Amino acid sequence: MDPKGYSFLPRLVTAYRFSPTAVIRAMGVLGIVVIFGILCTQGDNRSVRQSRSAWGDLGDSEIDEYLSTERPLTEDFEVYTTDNGGVSRPPMKLLTLFTTFKPSKDRRNVYRSIIRNWGLMRPAVQPVLYATPDTDHSLSDYARQHGWDVYPVPRSNRFKTPFLKDMYLHAEKHYRTHFYGYSNGDLLFDQGLLDTLTDLHTALPHNRSMVVGRRTNYVLKDFDKDLEDLTTIKDFAAAQKERAESVRVFKAVAIDYFISNRGGVNWQKLPNFVIGRAGYDNYLIFFARKHCKAVVVDASRTIRALHLQGAGFKLTHRTSNDTDSKYNLRIIRSLREFKGPGQLIEQGNVNAAQLESRHRSGGIEFIPHRRNRSAKAVIETLHPVVL
Ligand SMILES: *[C@@H]1O[C@H](CO)[C@@H](O)[C@H](O)[C@H]1NC(C)=O
Ligand SMILES: *[C@@H]1O[C@H](CO)[C@@H](O)[C@H](O)[C@H]1NC(C)=O
Ligand SMILES: *[C@@H]1O[C@H](CO)[C@@H](O)[C@H](O)[C@H]1NC(C)=O
Repeated sequence: MDPKGYSFLPRLVTAYRFSPTAVIRAMGVLGIVVIFGILCTQGDNRSVRQSRSAWGDLGDSEIDEYLSTERPLTEDFEVYTTDNGGVSRPPMKLLTLFTTFKPSKDRRNVYRSIIRNWGLMRPAVQPVLYATPDTDHSLSDYARQHGWDVYPVPRSNRFKTPFLKDMYLHAEKHYRTHFYGYSNGDLLFDQGLLDTLTDLHTALPHNRSMVVGRRTNYVLKDFDKDLEDLTTIKDFAAAQKERAESVRVFKAVAIDYFISNRGGVNWQKLPNFVIGRAGYDNYLIFFARKHCKAVVVDASRTIRALHLQGAGFKLTHRTSNDTDSKYNLRIIRSLREFKGPGQLIEQGNVNAAQLESRHRSGGIEFIPHRRNRSAKAVIETLHPVVL
């Protein structure tokens, strides 16, 4: 708030000679001045305020209504019209999986591996790249060659960082799949992704759900060396000795992919978080559980997610000096329900999921989450693994 607004007060009060009604009137004038001042404020506060008002739109009755509506998850599917005027629905694919690539020459080899890796999961998975104006055209072309669709990023903040929810909204509008997932652009998946989602869709077809998991950091010895022969996690496992400086399972608080079923998360109501900046990942787990009444599934045991990075988190957003690095945290702090970073960590980590997936003979099952939820266990890092 502009402190100058307060300097009006003594003058107004003096002018009205302390008559009680005049003071009330003066307070009214002051209120208008202050509100006007806030509305005119430029800068970071604008984005925070926008998201707060988006959040504020969610009145108690609206939340109740949204949560109690038992609409079938397929209700809002678009109807597709064929050329002969008849109406048909294309067969359902499993997952629309989307990402963005941060412009960076150093990450080029990593992105090419990811493009090939996600391309292998077609046609069950439709990979989508949301390209920024800075995205390298040769990468977009390479993605298209591997069966990806490429669209411009739907919406970004004024630092050109893409908003998360607009990508989900775009994907839900343009693709008809059982699941929709954003993943960071440096994550390789294995067949477990398809198996887990297929069995989850069978096990809980009518529940809202969101799938998350821990990642494994694969620290490349030399990220300048091309990775053209490495596409699957198996390939990277076979090359572990030669190519990896270390391979470790990462903290339960760092979440790199979020897959929700259609209608499972009310993306419209999510504050305007941007990708690649701290905080939104943890808030999202809390949001899915609390505001969408979604079942959050920790799929760490059945989905392998291999995070390609350089030593000391080189090639990740943790080591880049982005001017808007606190963007999401500012939004989260402005929320009425925010009770401090402890709450965010405790309620927004992978172990806070209600269910976890595990292998059983003939498939994957979903059981109540049994892992240690203590704050210490959650921020514990890095135990080494052999892939
Ligand atoms: C799935 O939805 C049903 C019906 O609303 C509910 O009874 C059940 O508890 C939900 N399952 C989970 C795992 O939350
Ligand atoms: C970020 O800034 C620090 C200190 O100014 C500098 O040492 C570091 O190299 C910068 N990192 C990147 C990725 O630019
Ligand atoms: C949970 O993890 C913490 C930290 O590693 C440990 O001290 C504690 O004993 C664990 N609790 C259980 C029930 O395993």
